[in-house]
Amino acid sequence: MKLLITGGAGFIGSAFVRMIVGETDHHAVNLDKLTYAGNLENLTPVENHPRYQFVHGDICDDRLVDALVAEEKPDAIVHFAAESHVDRSILSPEPVIQTNVRGTFVLLDAARRRGIGRFVHVSTDEVYGSLAAPAEATEDFPLNPSSPYSAAKAGSDLLARSYFVTYQMPVVITRASNNYGPYQFPEKLIPLMIANAFEDRPLPVYGDGMQVRDWLFVDDHCRGILAVLEQGRAGEIYNIGGNRSLPNLDVVHRVLELTGKPESLIQYVKDRPGHDRRYALSSEKLMHETGWAPAMAFEAGLARTVEWYKQNPAWVSRVRSGEYRAYYEKNYGRRELTR
Ligand code: NAD
Ligand code: DAU
Repeated sequence: MKLLITGGAGFIGSAFVRMIVGETDHHAVNLDKLTYAGNLENLTPVENHPRYQFVHGDICDDRLVDALVAEEKPDAIVHFAAESHVDRSILSPEPVIQTNVRGTFVLLDAARRRGIGRFVHVSTDEVYGSLAAPAEATEDFPLNPSSPYSAAKAGSDLLARSYFVTYQMPVVITRASNNYGPYQFPEKLIPLMIANAFEDRPLPVYGDGMQVRDWLFVDDHCRGILAVLEQGRAGEIYNIGGNRSLPNLDVVHRVLELTGKPESLIQYVKDRPGHDRRYALSSEKLMHETGWAPAMAFEAGLARTVEWYKQNPAWVSRVRSGEYRAYYEKNYGRRELTR
């Protein structure tokens, strides 16, 4: 297959591109705007491969998207591109709505007009909102998003579904839990804590640190998306979870152990507004229909991730320069300490 992959220079998209080029016979055309989160260094291992091609552009640019789809005639679109960080969506919602909602519409509509055979819309468990224990979201759970990020993702999920219902377009939607692994931009919990710990800087824990997330190694997520691309039923939604729920504080303590740093680095700070307390989801449907299962144990995945950041200080220092500093100052600079 020839795949048009959007957001392939980001954390999960680049892992997917590396997997497609390295482990399958599919071709990958990567359309990416290269926002602060997009980084062509993530694609160095495949940049000269004959089955890989990069196109610099914005998914909101309807002319560019239409021309690209007409010219490349992909067999499928795998749509990762998004503004993906909750804290940034709270500070500046506008680009989040543009890319996540309008960008998804532009792609869906180009795919409809050009008769694309498959559209995989990559979404998130955050659309289900916070769930009280012991509930686990199945695909038919109501949507109950809390942040501008998750509301925009929920909106894009509904648009994607409407293209299946109205136009019989072969759309499939995936909803994954919290990813971690190499090449993750150090604004998300795990890479931020690892990068700060290595530099002996404070580890900012929001609220009481007892919020629960389900952790999924990025390569397991990518294998789940490939299974949905190849075997998923049109019009269906598939959850992809790591089956490993942990409170944030537990994750932070493990990072301190693996980096050999003291607990005194932990700094409790004012909570994130609208902070979801607990995400949990069931991946039974995907497991049952495709045989997929998460393969990476959290302990091994976290150790591998810490080692990757240790071995790649130049990557970390490049992505933390410039724009990152301004964001860090805005989000953490004047944040009240709570203990
Ligand atoms: P990321 O922020 O690391 O990467 C996003 C990529 O999209 C970047 O390369 C960026 O340049 C590109 N992009 C942004 N706006 C664009 C635009 N307008 N046009 C073209 N490209 C654009 O994100 P990620 O963590 O890799 O997440 C990828 C997808 O997976 C997102 O749709 C996200 O909602 C979803 N998801 C993420 C997680 C997670 O834990 N990170 C979990 C579940 C689902
Ligand atoms: O659940 C899937 C979602 O996971 C994806 O859709 C999002 O793209 C991805 O960003 C992620 O969202 P979260 O908000 O759960 O991830 P984040 O890494 O930002 O935060 C994880 C938890 O850690 C959350 O409870 C907030 C907390 N946290 C985060 C940061 C960055 C802190 O306590 N301190 C921090 O500095």
